[in-house]
Amino acid sequence: MERPMALGSEVLMSQAIQPAHADARGQLSAGQLLKWVDAAACLAAEKHAGVSCVTASVDDIQFEETARVGQVITIKAKVTRAFSTSMEISIKVMVQDTLTGTEKLVSVAFSTFVAKPVGKEKVCLKPVTLLTEQDRVEHNLASERRRVRLQHEDTFNNLMRESGKCADLNSSEEEGSVSTRGTSAQSVELVLPPHANHHGNTFGGQIMAWMETVATISASRLCRAHPILKSVDMFKFRGPSTVGDRLVFSAIVNNTFQTCVEVGVRVEAFDCQEWAKGRGRHINSAFLIYQAVDTKGEPISLPRIKPVSEDDVRRYRGAIARKRIRLGRKYVISHREEVPRCTHWDLSKQAALSRGNVEALRTLAAKSGWEVTSTAEKIKIYTLEERDVLSIWVQKQVESPAHLAYHLLSDFTKRPLWDPHYMSCEVLDWVGEDDKIYYITCPMATGDKPKDLVVLVSRRKPVRSGHAYTVAVKSVVLPSAPPSPEYIRGEIVCAGFLIHAIDSYTCTVSYFNQISASILPYFAGNLGGWSKSIEEAAASCIKFIENAAVSMS
Ligand code: COA
Ligand code: ADP
Repeated sequence: MERPMALGSEVLMSQAIQPAHADARGQLSAGQLLKWVDAAACLAAEKHAGVSCVTASVDDIQFEETARVGQVITIKAKVTRAFSTSMEISIKVMVQDTLTGTEKLVSVAFSTFVAKPVGKEKVCLKPVTLLTEQDRVEHNLASERRRVRLQHEDTFNNLMRESGKCADLNSSEEEGSVSTRGTSAQSVELVLPPHANHHGNTFGGQIMAWMETVATISASRLCRAHPILKSVDMFKFRGPSTVGDRLVFSAIVNNTFQTCVEVGVRVEAFDCQEWAKGRGRHINSAFLIYQAVDTKGEPISLPRIKPVSEDDVRRYRGAIARKRIRLGRKYVISHREEVPRCTHWDLSKQAALSRGNVEALRTLAAKSGWEVTSTAEKIKIYTLEERDVLSIWVQKQVESPAHLAYHLLSDFTKRPLWDPHYMSCEVLDWVGEDDKIYYITCPMATGDKPKDLVVLVSRRKPVRSGHAYTVAVKSVVLPSAPPSPEYIRGEIVCAGFLIHAIDSYTCTVSYFNQISASILPYFAGNLGGWSKSIEEAAASCIKFIENAAVSMS
């Protein structure tokens, strides 16, 4: 017999995309999708709570796929964990092409709903019944996500304070940069009964849909093309709105990042009296990331922003801080299992493997699109996001001759002396003067076990002046060092150092790492702004090399 209803709090919503749901290109409008997502999540929350619920906040949402008229959207929403009065809802959106039957993932998202019974005391929600192993995993991760969510404002404020100290995050002098002045957009909506639940509270999804409309107008004024919504930053509904409110939406471009643009929208609600007095309630601010594509579907490069007023500068910096937090949060939110790439060590192919190791590092370093995420006196951190791959570049100014830095950094047995992420490091296989295989152990970052690694380190001196000293690192599989039950075997896809001489006494040491899932816990907090481990390791590295330089002089 067919199940009449999904189990537990689960809610399934299916929607056939009609022309009325589409934008000018015939694709499902992001606003309509946000409305459906919020409605499905609200129904899941109310199925668990047994009383009416309102949207408290929505975590970062990323849109992986677009959907078009004629296709079918399916939304699965369920409560992953109930706290006291609030619940986390997981939402999975799929799109199906009914002609071919193919199904694709559009988005995985999390929102929080608060139980709001009318005229009653606060409710205390019952715990969620965990039916599967996946339910248990999500239930545990929900607390971690809640922690990040609730400290979001503090994290953001910390990053803003920090970024205020470094002037060169500001690109106002850059050639070709544009002002945001022409991108501002405003709109007003009157909340009517169809926009609200039966208690008269405006649906969060309806507000999100209105925000998206105004933000799209603002983005198109910069892109001069149809912008596609790629993600929405985490936000909170600060206060309620009800039927009869006038909602004023103000949007403007805050910043651009290569092919992406961040638009911010502020929403103020006015009841009839407030409307006449011109004094409203700030109920929400959201930040939406768009991309514009050319006729071949390739992303268009966008001009840099030139912040002019004080507000422009604050918003410009805010966008950088939010981007950094988003990068850090990706790890906590996504829980993605990594498929190891497994390069098997083979002595007969040693030359090709070593060459590949060095080339991969040089190629990573030469890529365009590195964005500054933090700058301190001698340490600059850059990140590069290519689809799902995140890479990091830490650039350090060191008062030491380049050849000495190279000598010290290419000997990985010395790395535990300065790098707190390395516990021990020993040579497993002395392949040659410039190529060695090391066995490394690292302290625990998350979980209950330390990590270990087997890596090939290939070092090369510059062939001519002006070139860099190179120390390339990648994981290899060695039959004599199989994974052991005491350690989680990690993987380095592509990492290492490039050292450039500035003069005979100083050099720049650049550390690169294409971050794999097993390495991400060491970086996530840093990028997200709740840890300083990268800066600490970089400072320790500088000190280690400079001390050695002093004792040799
Ligand atoms: N994300 C997720 N949950 C949040 C949150 C956030 N940013 N801020 C607060 N909460 C949770 C708290 O953790 C608490 O949960 P718990 O009881 O399970 O511990 C719950 O919300 C209530 O928190 P409290 O501190 O008592 O209230 P608050 O003054 O922070 O108000 C809201 C929180 C969400 C109730 C309030 O801001 C509100 O009413 N917002 C409007 C909601 C709404 O009407 N939405 C529809 C669109 S307008
Ligand atoms: P902040 O200005 O510090 O970013 P707000 O919550 O006031 O924070 O606003 C959120 C976003 O809404 C801003 O970043 C901006 O993009 C947009 N915005 C706010 N006020 C206006 C306005 N008057 N006109 C156009 N856009 C605005």
